[in-house]
Amino acid sequence: MILGIETSCDETAAAVVTEDGRVLSSVVSSQAELHARFGGVVPEIASRRHLELVAPVVRTALDEAGVELDGIDRIAVTQGPGLVGALLVGISAAKALAWARRLPLAPVDHLEGHVASLYLGPEPLAPPFLCLLASGGHTLLLAVREHGASERLGTTLDDAAGEAFDKGARLLGLGYPGGAAIDREARAGDADAFAFPVARVPGLDFSFSGVKTALLYAVRGLPEGGLADSRADLAASYQRAIVTALVRRLDEAAEAVGMERVAVVGGVAANSELRAALPNAHFAPLAFCTDNAAVIASAARYAKALAYPRYLGLDAYASIS
Ligand code: KG4
Ligand code: ZN
Repeated sequence: MILGIETSCDETAAAVVTEDGRVLSSVVSSQAELHARFGGVVPEIASRRHLELVAPVVRTALDEAGVELDGIDRIAVTQGPGLVGALLVGISAAKALAWARRLPLAPVDHLEGHVASLYLGPEPLAPPFLCLLASGGHTLLLAVREHGASERLGTTLDDAAGEAFDKGARLLGLGYPGGAAIDREARAGDADAFAFPVARVPGLDFSFSGVKTALLYAVRGLPEGGLADSRADLAASYQRAIVTALVRRLDEAAEAVGMERVAVVGGVAANSELRAALPNAHFAPLAFCTDNAAVIASAARYAKALAYPRYLGLDAYASIS
């Protein structure tokens, strides 16, 4: 039985997952509302809120799984990448819990966690596969050859795909977080109404700054008060450009490495147009696409756990290694 803890950004999350990948509980307390009026996550506010929420969220995860701390064999916690102050709250909580019971503690890479969303029951995917990881902080193409080991084939040269959704939503007056809002708004729009660029960069990398700027100019070019009438069309066209960029690169990468099985993980994997555009790809259930602790516990099944007391000096890291 693994207790997972995730606090890398603005979700305080805890989950209990079995060694064979069954999710007994997954509790996610989102702080999105708290940050919405600032138009993005404020790191110091996130850290303070994690501090208030982490103990009750862990308590709820144990209760919902019907286990006590005595029934937990191992603790897993996100070590990075993420907001350092936010990560440290989860790491400190995990250390304290593990120390109190002399349990082993597995530090987990947040990105490995996203990939491990595919390893959860009831229908886990097994490597090898090609994986697109598209979240608010990262856009990566990974050749996953075995559990816990992947080769990076491409990344974004500027904004992450989720970040492009969030910034676009802001320009369209759809608030924060923006991916789901654009997804909803786009359903009522015409994706051919605006021609937004799909960046062509060398290799298997991505770039989303051009499409974001194109949206900015399109919004500025609207007649006074015209945003309300064009919002759905802009959202649909913008979403189409981002999805096209992701799907194209995924196809090219599949060809380049000769991997037939393709999977998509991370918050942007919740996007309905992306899911529809890739009917043969594997997607984790929606609840495990955006940040949560079940995927962190899942990754810990394939990661090295540190025995007591070796984890007491464990530190967080902010950026991708
Ligand atoms: O994986 P995640 O929860 O957090 C990070 O690790 O960054 O991803 C959050 C990102 C946000 O940028 C959010 O706008 C995006 O995922 N997102 C979506 C959708 N739902 C969440 N983007 C497009 N369509 C969605 N339905
Ligand atoms: Zn994430």
